[in-house]
Amino acid sequence: MHFQSEPIYKTVLGALYCADSLEFMRQLPDDSVDLVVTSPPYALHFKKEYGNASQQEYIAWFLPFAREIKRIIKPSGSFVLNIGGSWQPGVPVRSLYHYRVLLALVDETGYDLAQEFFWFNPAKMPAPAEWVNVRRIRVKDSVEYIFWFVKDPMAQADNRKVLQPYSDDMKRLIKRGVKQTIRPSGHVITGTFASDRGGSIPSNLIQCGNNESNSAYVKNSRIAGNKIHPARFPAELPRFFMEFLTNPGDLVLDPFAGSNTTGHVAERLKRRWLGVELREDYAQESRLRFEGLPEEVILQQGQQTLKF
Ligand SMILES: C[S@@+](CC[C@H](N)C(=O)[O-])C[C@H]1O[C@@H](n2cnc3c(N)ncnc32)[C@H](O)[C@@H]1O
Repeated sequence: MHFQSEPIYKTVLGALYCADSLEFMRQLPDDSVDLVVTSPPYALHFKKEYGNASQQEYIAWFLPFAREIKRIIKPSGSFVLNIGGSWQPGVPVRSLYHYRVLLALVDETGYDLAQEFFWFNPAKMPAPAEWVNVRRIRVKDSVEYIFWFVKDPMAQADNRKVLQPYSDDMKRLIKRGVKQTIRPSGHVITGTFASDRGGSIPSNLIQCGNNESNSAYVKNSRIAGNKIHPARFPAELPRFFMEFLTNPGDLVLDPFAGSNTTGHVAERLKRRWLGVELREDYAQESRLRFEGLPEEVILQQGQQTLKF
């Protein structure tokens, strides 16, 4: 594929562009991308440094992106959208904007919702502090939403590629075998329930923190004196969906690439990838995920000279 502008950098399998992704996606042919996995700016009451649409404007802002994504994904492809919830300003009441996004994508853009997932981040800070920490009338909001959209209900997916280790109880059952029983719910448990199928089928609750303090990106950013991107998602999110929904060699796009977590995971999983980020500083600095620092960058720490 040829694009109007040069990428900020290229790797063996992908390229990162600094552009408005709405414009960028217009250059992509119909039915050409296997997976879009992304986390756009949320409609937070407190604005992030990279700017974000308000709750009232959010649908109008986001729908053109969603339409373009629908045009470029293959019929076998998927669109995985990570979006955080929000509160109404000044009152301990939730905003419903993320549900409005979900309904608009299905009702107005014509996607099907393949499944909704929840990302449980136990390390999420309590907020809004006024309601959670000070007045103590709300609890910690530790979950974000991940909506998995498809344009064909039979889009490519295989949960055998994301099996998880069996629990100790399940391992015991597999060893011992089970007799046919009927659960109080009416479900019939047969002997095949305890067969070893290589691992347990994951649920739609993904639990992971979003600290990656040991990653090359964070370490190298600190050394280079760069600010670390303020709203990264954990590598586990794109990893799960890439393995579940694509094969090596497939094309993955993140139109709100930020620090390019998605591109880095894709490279490791041998998927081709494209990333698009509007801010040039984030786009430039995301290259640190892939490289040691350039030869000429030398950090003086006291007497010690560290070279990367
Ligand atoms: C929540 S962050 C994504 C972070 C990313 N998932 C990561 O792990 O680093 C959203 C990003 O979208 C970028 N952005 C906002 N509008 C954009 C647009 N029209 N085109 C491309 N990027 C955009 C912002 O600058 C911000 O870096």
